[in-house]
Amino acid sequence: MSDSSLFRPYRRGVLDLPNRIAMAPMTRGRADDATGVPNPLTADYYAQRAGAGLIVTEGIYPNVLGKGGPGIPGLVDEAQVAGWRSVTDAVHAAGGRIFAQLWHVGRMTHPFTLPGGAIPLAPSPVRITGAPIFTGQGMVEHVTPRAMTTAEADATVEDFVAEARNAIAAGFDGVEVHGANGYLIQQFLAENTNRRTDRYGGSRNGRLRLAVDIVTAVAAEVGAERVGLRISPDNPENEIAERDPQDTYRALLDTLDPLGLAYLHVIERGDYAALADLRPRWSSTLIANFNGPSPTTRDAGEKVLDTGLADIFSFGRHFIANPDLPARFAAGAPLNEYARDRVYGGGAEGYTDYPALHTEQV
Ligand SMILES: Cc1cc2nc3c(=O)[nH]c(=O)nc-3n(C[C@H](O)[C@H](O)[C@H](O)COP(=O)(O)O)c2cc1C
Repeated sequence: MSDSSLFRPYRRGVLDLPNRIAMAPMTRGRADDATGVPNPLTADYYAQRAGAGLIVTEGIYPNVLGKGGPGIPGLVDEAQVAGWRSVTDAVHAAGGRIFAQLWHVGRMTHPFTLPGGAIPLAPSPVRITGAPIFTGQGMVEHVTPRAMTTAEADATVEDFVAEARNAIAAGFDGVEVHGANGYLIQQFLAENTNRRTDRYGGSRNGRLRLAVDIVTAVAAEVGAERVGLRISPDNPENEIAERDPQDTYRALLDTLDPLGLAYLHVIERGDYAALADLRPRWSSTLIANFNGPSPTTRDAGEKVLDTGLADIFSFGRHFIANPDLPARFAAGAPLNEYARDRVYGGGAEGYTDYPALHTEQV
């Protein structure tokens, strides 16, 4: 065993974790594309990773217009709830804890992915121009999204609430609202993608409104102690440009902190800028994640915990190839490399076939 801070148990609210190593949410594109029901292998995939202190699932859509690409799962109907129930049962049977990530992509999708060739919805009709998007028909240029009406934005809040309710019905321990990486919620937060003049835009508080309303309504539905929020301040991914991220995210936290959420999950570059700014403004659990060109190392995560800027650290890419990542970290064992061409879609290959340490030694 290791005396690293990564291996200290963590207890607060509903979080009762044997270690501080979380599995970061990662889309794998293996759900049934027509139904949005998780792949039968998905239960094995997450159960293999139940040694994580906390698993956060891949992003799951709250309505089908929030679906970002082929094989993304939903949590809207009974078949999807039943599919996720087999996942949560498997993770719990393996001794793990699992939150569902609630994810609406906004403009980061394409008519080829949406039912009836629908136009993607976004805060404003601002098209992505710098990169194509993956669809069932390959990489294609983005279309200009359609601005949500105020009523559609209100309805989207309700869809997140229904998704959270479905997640609890499916046996999840909680939910994480995806407010990061340039998807719907961050499109509302950022000035370059939110040019609205209704109450979901127009001012800083207007830009915050969708995030605040979703988190508040979801917390009212399933209990704040079961709700996390993921953010990525100043992350330019997916053509987001935030003029004054410090002001935006300070105000967001000042509004949400009193709710007593399960956690805040902060993605940053690894320079501690967002963590140092936000930690003093957040009184419950903070999970940190670094998003850089290569998978974040054990030492980088441990260092953040040692500084006190976060309580838990989440690892993404290393969990793809190392189902027993905490055991490998504890043993100082070598890590498997992940196969980049098998990340999205397909079957067991590159998904459930990475060996754990003990199987390698046999
Ligand atoms: C294949 C892949 C899929 C991802 N999908 C999601 C997702 O669905 N939701 C999300 O919030 N982040 C997603 N991310 C970002 C990761 O959660 C994490 O922030 C990132 O991989 C950096 O952590 P790492 O250096 O430990 O890999 C994804 C990352 C990868 C590599």
